[in-house]
Amino acid sequence: MRVEVLETELTALDADLVAVGLCEGDSLPAALADAPGAADVSGEAEKLSSLFPVAPPRILVAGLGKREELDAERLRVAAALVAKEAGRREATSLAWLLPESADAAAAAEGLVTGTILGAYRFDSFKSGDPDKPAPPRLDSLTLLAPAELAATAEAARIAAEAQNRARDLQSTPANFATPAFLAARAEEIAAGHDAVSVEVLGREEIVAKKMGGLVAVSQGSVEEPRLIALRYAGGGSGATLGMVGKGVTFDTGGISLKPGAGMQEMKYDMSGAAAVLEAVAAIAELGLAIDLVAVVPATENMPSGSAIKPGDVITQYNGKTVEVNNTDAEGRLILADALAYAIELGAERVVDLATLTGAVVIALGSTYAAVLGNDEALAGEVERAGTVTGELIWRLPLHPEYKKLMKGTFADLSNLAAKREAGTATAASFLEEFVGETPWAHVDIAGTAWDVGRAYTGKDASGYGVRLLVELARRFAHD
Ligand code: BES
Ligand code: MN
Ligand code: ZN
Repeated sequence: MRVEVLETELTALDADLVAVGLCEGDSLPAALADAPGAADVSGEAEKLSSLFPVAPPRILVAGLGKREELDAERLRVAAALVAKEAGRREATSLAWLLPESADAAAAAEGLVTGTILGAYRFDSFKSGDPDKPAPPRLDSLTLLAPAELAATAEAARIAAEAQNRARDLQSTPANFATPAFLAARAEEIAAGHDAVSVEVLGREEIVAKKMGGLVAVSQGSVEEPRLIALRYAGGGSGATLGMVGKGVTFDTGGISLKPGAGMQEMKYDMSGAAAVLEAVAAIAELGLAIDLVAVVPATENMPSGSAIKPGDVITQYNGKTVEVNNTDAEGRLILADALAYAIELGAERVVDLATLTGAVVIALGSTYAAVLGNDEALAGEVERAGTVTGELIWRLPLHPEYKKLMKGTFADLSNLAAKREAGTATAASFLEEFVGETPWAHVDIAGTAWDVGRAYTGKDASGYGVRLLVELARRFAHD
């Protein structure tokens, strides 16, 4: 979407639709006070009302709720509702009058983000009706705001477009979005930015490197795995940040097969990978002064005659042995190798994003993702980044008692905890075995990667984590 910041009169705009925010109890801008419809507008949050002045031709009044509660999140929601209404009206250009608020930059970010995410739809697999062409897309947003907000608006555009690309990757069905497909996207990102380079390993190289977790999970599938490593050399003086994303392009559970109902959702089991790949692209586009290594282990998890079986023992990349007591606990096996590899590649602190446990959905629903880790400061930065972007995160604890539950009977570790409870924490405790002393934060996004249902995320793929990682990189960037 084209985004521009303009300082002009409301009445001078020629956009198809103009949106104006209104807090409860406030009055409309003077230029609109006498417009037809003005008497009936509402400032109630999430309410839209129409105005019919002579110029500009069509105005939408977006209720913003109580003034003291007005924040970026309220504006993301309002902007998404307006973008959807613009879609219904087949408007291709939209203008927003920046509402008055304590933090103008946050308000601009909210409007740009909400508009771009709210206008998103995934219909590339619909063949379409030749007699009824698809409705036009909203393709331009004009912010009526002080010119000094142009850089903020542009940064928000870059991050939100990246989030929409992550949603495309998530939604693309698993017969298209294979490990090779994710690798091709990584190569495309590297080709598009001088500061980004990529290394992709295929099955033979993964076997040769003794990444036993990725070998084990992928061995049941005819679809070849990929180990994708992206580097971004943004310069700067800070520590190298590692990002790891779970890239299970389809999780059947393997021999520990999942029930059939709802299994189609397991195409989303690469949501962590999608977020990491597109966050790297956004960070490179923004030119943040930070060095990054991003590692994505990509594979299917399939049952077959060559699949890993319950009780099999494997050796992970760092040399630890694992008894695979449930082949559906596959994410931790591939992340174990990827975390160790990211640290070997130079990550001095590392964050992983993974749709890792059903337990986190029970604990936090789709409102919060969970963060767990071995470093207070890093977990705190992740939480604060999420507060800024609206990708909410709640801390869950690690404890030696959880770690004990992951001991193996015949090997160093088991991939299945001895007890079912605290499934998110026991999974994280397993991962902790592979990061050594490196500060590490694990974000379990099983509840937030799809089916979130906020106005700007919709019900399907949410692209959760892209703006979070961009914000985290921004916080760690140093010239
Ligand atoms: N990909 C799933 C986790 C998941 C479940 C994500 C539901 C989103 C929605 C993961 O690989 C898995 O199967 N986890 C198991 C682990 C268990 C066998 C220890 C789970 O959470 O049930
Ligand atoms: Mn699984
Ligand atoms: Zn999985």
